[in-house]
Amino acid sequence: MQRDSKPHKLIVFAVIHQIGSQFDRTCLLVNCGSDRTLWRYGKLYSAAFDRRTESCRCCFPNHQIYFFEKVFHFINKMAKVPHVKLSNGKEMPLIGLGTWKSKPGQVLEAVKVAIDIGYRHVDCALAYQNETEVGRAIKAKIDDKTIKREDIFVTSKLWNTFHRREKVLECCQKSLKDLGLDYLDLYLIHWPIAYKEGDELFPKNEKGEMLTENIDFKETWKGMEEVYEKGLVKSIGLSNFNSEQINTILSISKVKPVALQVECHPYLNQNKLIEFCKKHDIAVTAYSPLGSPDRPWVKPDEPSVMADPRIKQLAEKYSKSPAQILLRFNVQRNVIVIPKSVTEERIRNNFEIFDFELTPEEMDQISNFQEKYRYCHLNWLKNDPNFPFNIEF
Ligand SMILES: NC(=O)c1ccc[n+]([C@@H]2O[C@H](COP(=O)([O-])OP(=O)(O)OC[C@H]3O[C@@H](n4cnc5c(N)ncnc54)[C@H](OP(=O)(O)O)[C@@H]3O)[C@@H](O)[C@H]2O)c1
Repeated sequence: MQRDSKPHKLIVFAVIHQIGSQFDRTCLLVNCGSDRTLWRYGKLYSAAFDRRTESCRCCFPNHQIYFFEKVFHFINKMAKVPHVKLSNGKEMPLIGLGTWKSKPGQVLEAVKVAIDIGYRHVDCALAYQNETEVGRAIKAKIDDKTIKREDIFVTSKLWNTFHRREKVLECCQKSLKDLGLDYLDLYLIHWPIAYKEGDELFPKNEKGEMLTENIDFKETWKGMEEVYEKGLVKSIGLSNFNSEQINTILSISKVKPVALQVECHPYLNQNKLIEFCKKHDIAVTAYSPLGSPDRPWVKPDEPSVMADPRIKQLAEKYSKSPAQILLRFNVQRNVIVIPKSVTEERIRNNFEIFDFELTPEEMDQISNFQEKYRYCHLNWLKNDPNFPFNIEF
């Protein structure tokens, strides 16, 4: 009985064979404080310890519980996803799960699986029309104690029909309600272009052309600062803004944008925009990092960055997939990636990018690909005065 109520002092060593996210190869050496030392080697995920491993032979059951709690705590600390420090001191994980085009029926499972694998960052937006399911998945993982709210970084975005200063709060509150959260970690202006305000997320005229409005995005930024000041969002930033538009925001902001989300992959390396952001202490997130093969407007003759022979060659060299090479390229230069997938094997594959390194020459080679291609071009808005892709960067 004495041993039951006073657990052994546990000394737990975790040897991560492959640095980073390969937690399923984690080897644990457990010394239970008695004269017996146990080795446990099993499937360990950041928070999902496989409880089927052999039971501790020298402890009573409550010691085992204590033991598992210690191990969870320890592994969770060890297993932290690499992150970028934002200019306001907050930490943003270098990889997150994208959710655009993820159907409500699939995204619930995708987010749950991702969290089990170790993702601690989800990229959402009101316009994706699936935030309710994403929120249910996050709640399920909080309820089953895999994560706490503060362990996961949730981004959402202000949609184009809410650009009027007074409408920003409404849009933010809708995302919060749908996600079932009381704060967002990051809130972005989705696009610098305003659409006609109203119930339609994609308002069009009878010819099928998008209806836009002339709202100054400086006004929108003021609304963003207000939701920040109310404590509804921990950080604010921009998406799809070019360097001139970012400069405009910087010139009027009380609260600086800490992050910019833009399309980024070897066919659109964004080298100049990244350099510009670095100077202003703005973290960059790469969207469509795999070339967005499921984008709704895809045409069969468009180039595929995932199928590029040089990327495939590197994949062979490192025994990795082309997707992993594309993601590694960005994270290795401190650019956050948010690949979207609803397929468990790919969600896992995309996460396993912290156990190898491209050489400086390979990074240079990829950075200097001559192909230039923008998958999310939004060409149908190119006559709008705020269209962001009419200048070099
Ligand atoms: N701010 C913005 O304006 C903006 C614009 C675009 C995207 N985004 C964000 O960025 C995220 C990612 O971009 P994206 O969705 O355009 O495209 P992406 O992540 O480049 O590509 C997603 C596509 O790649 C497939 N895929 C994923 N992993 C793969 C792998 N390992 N091997 C082969 N195929 C793989 C997915 O298929 P399955 O799902 O079928 O597995 C899906 O068809 C979005 O989901 C969204 O969160 C933001």
